[in-house]
Amino acid sequence: MTDVQIPAARPANPRFSSGPCAKPPVFSLDALSDAPLGRSHRAAVGKSKLQQAIEETRDILQVPADYRIGIVPGSDTGAFEMAMWSLLGARPSETLAWESFGKGWVTDAVKQLKLADNTVREADYGDIVDLTAVDWNKDVCFTWNGTTSGVRVPNGDAIPANREGLTLCDATSAAFAQDLPWEKLDVTTFSWQKVMGGEAAHGMIILSPRAVERLESYTPAWPLPKIFRLTKGGKLIDGIFKGETINTPSMLCVEDYLQALAWGRSVGGLKGLQDRANKNAQVVWDFVEANDWIENLATDPAIRSNTSVCLKFTDPAVAGDADFAKAVGKKLEAEGVAHDVGSYRDAPAGLRIWCGSTVETSDVQALMPWIDWAYHAVLTERQSA
Ligand SMILES: Cc1ncc(COP(=O)(O)O)c(C=O)c1O
Repeated sequence: MTDVQIPAARPANPRFSSGPCAKPPVFSLDALSDAPLGRSHRAAVGKSKLQQAIEETRDILQVPADYRIGIVPGSDTGAFEMAMWSLLGARPSETLAWESFGKGWVTDAVKQLKLADNTVREADYGDIVDLTAVDWNKDVCFTWNGTTSGVRVPNGDAIPANREGLTLCDATSAAFAQDLPWEKLDVTTFSWQKVMGGEAAHGMIILSPRAVERLESYTPAWPLPKIFRLTKGGKLIDGIFKGETINTPSMLCVEDYLQALAWGRSVGGLKGLQDRANKNAQVVWDFVEANDWIENLATDPAIRSNTSVCLKFTDPAVAGDADFAKAVGKKLEAEGVAHDVGSYRDAPAGLRIWCGSTVETSDVQALMPWIDWAYHAVLTERQSA
């Protein structure tokens, strides 16, 4: 075992959590002073902030003008389950899963909604299913970026433009950092807490004209709680997509999201945000390439996430050893150089480093020698125990 020196430099910001993610580098509580606190969200001032959040989202994400964008309760989970409960059951469906959150949507479809004609396709952590084998004439639920396994859908090529089914896409750890082919996505959801470093609790739902058509022509067999209801009397509730939220939002969180969007614009909008995530992830990939004891969980570079980068230790002495991986994460935490980088509770043992757009590349660079150090330090402790 080599004696690895404690690195000289520390990341200026040790926040590498995959959610809530690091705030934008310019974040300050003072910047939220324009939040209309103590005012009704239905007053002109509140409504205009909510409308602005919708319009800016459309603009930065380049969402087509005929798609609807709403702010809904329950973070990404609320937005995605609202879509599942409102739309599924009209025709046969497929639920695709390659990590923990996708598996959660499979459970919803199979055990909660008990969909009569639903096909489940699952891939192991680190892989995705064969998208060309999917029947896109069925409704298809999937996760664009698998946060807990570090994979992503590479592009929308496998999704036919003339599909008969709807695509329901959980894009929470992809939106803003990865290209989303809107013409291939009928429902897209995400939370502010991920790539933009906003707050949780509010979800975004983006609907294609075909999704709206389904909402207005289909009534599910099961009851819908008020916070899932997007229609009234068979018509879309138009106000939801103009800032009239279903229930009361936090105007502090809305202000925070607006600040994050303004920052996103200042770094070059969608392209700038994507470049930042790409650069960050590249630093980790280069580190992995240079070290033979660590590997990406996603072996195929085409499906590797540029936001939730998941790594595994490959030395046979410690590969798959959850206690070892946890100890490395704990060491990084104890040194104050990386918070929350242990892999997700039901994902394979390893590290998960959030490389989304709010993270500074210099911080990812500064973290790499610490991973080297922590890995060897835990290995030494093990050998001398
Ligand atoms: C892919 C994916 N889906 C859903 C969620 C749940 O998001 P939220 O807690 O914002 O509802 C997460 C959170 O990490 C996620 O990564």
